[in-house]
Amino acid sequence: MNTMNAETLRDWLEKGKPVTVLDIRSTADRSSWAIPGSLHIDAYAALKAHDAHALDGVVLPSDVPVVTVCNSGYTSQIASKQLQARGIESRSLEGGMQAWSFAWNTADVPLPSSTEVIQIRRVGKGCLSYLIGSQGEAAVIDASLQPEVYIDLAKSRGWSITAVLDTHIHADHLSRSRLLAEQSGATLYLPDQQRVKYRFTALRNGSIIKVGGASLMVIPTPGHTAESMSYLLDRQALFTGDTLFLQGVGRPDLHATTEETRSHAQLLHHSLHHHLLLLPARTLVLPGHTNTPTPFDKIPLTATLGDLWNKVELLRLSESEFVDALVARIPPVPPNHARIIELNEAGRLIENPIRLEAGANNCGIS
Ligand SMILES: [Fe+2]
Repeated sequence: MNTMNAETLRDWLEKGKPVTVLDIRSTADRSSWAIPGSLHIDAYAALKAHDAHALDGVVLPSDVPVVTVCNSGYTSQIASKQLQARGIESRSLEGGMQAWSFAWNTADVPLPSSTEVIQIRRVGKGCLSYLIGSQGEAAVIDASLQPEVYIDLAKSRGWSITAVLDTHIHADHLSRSRLLAEQSGATLYLPDQQRVKYRFTALRNGSIIKVGGASLMVIPTPGHTAESMSYLLDRQALFTGDTLFLQGVGRPDLHATTEETRSHAQLLHHSLHHHLLLLPARTLVLPGHTNTPTPFDKIPLTATLGDLWNKVELLRLSESEFVDALVARIPPVPPNHARIIELNEAGRLIENPIRLEAGANNCGIS
């Protein structure tokens, strides 16, 4: 059977190699997350039933290899065989959308200063992490991919990683920050809190981390979680974690009881209005997640604070309106979040986190 692994498909898409990605999942499955630019035919049930005409309706660009995709890489093999029988070069994506969870791409974030920022998008899940480089040194914020991704990217720019930070204790993915710090010899910085069971350097209000000639200033922004922090780079770019997104704000309920959720939403309103929104309107916001699959287009996902003020209606609400709106709009609780939090507090990774981390992130409210 001809197959392709997720890393190869990622590499092809990043390099712009011609490939048609054909998603054969049900429309319902596809609606939660998809590979950017993929074609879709809802052929899952027909393929499972070995209907030889399951793919008859699909129109594919000629002379472009096809990669078929399903949830876990089995039914897509049937699809690939059918296409091959039609003389089309076709492979099945090994592990399907579950394996795609680890796919990533990058975009450079232009800043007025000489500090360089690379946005690393875990496109299969919507997690955004950042590599900041200045004068041979680098920092990583919210590592969600295997450490080699960050270490190799830093090496390719001539930087060595000296600082690794998380914005908060994550609930949607396993943090790779502890392992990355160990493997790169960097200092691991986390918001000051009593939850994690391993050693780290605690960050507090106003702490400053030097990265080459750049500096990251710590701004506590509780709300999404009690310990959430944002990091301001050279007074130009603001890493907001799950406090502020490009379409909305962080959900306040994941680490809270139902009664606590309202007070966390109040805290979030305070963090936004008394800390982040007081910064200059031109400050570039770099969030911890996106809620749509990120194309392989090298365009960074960012906006200025001023743009977000105009675009995100939640930011213009009074405290009581904001709390009511958040509580009314809380999305479904992400699967496995309790187990992910437990592992992140223990600082542990598991051998095969594909199933644990499967599915789109669900951290924001817009
Ligand atoms: Fe979060």
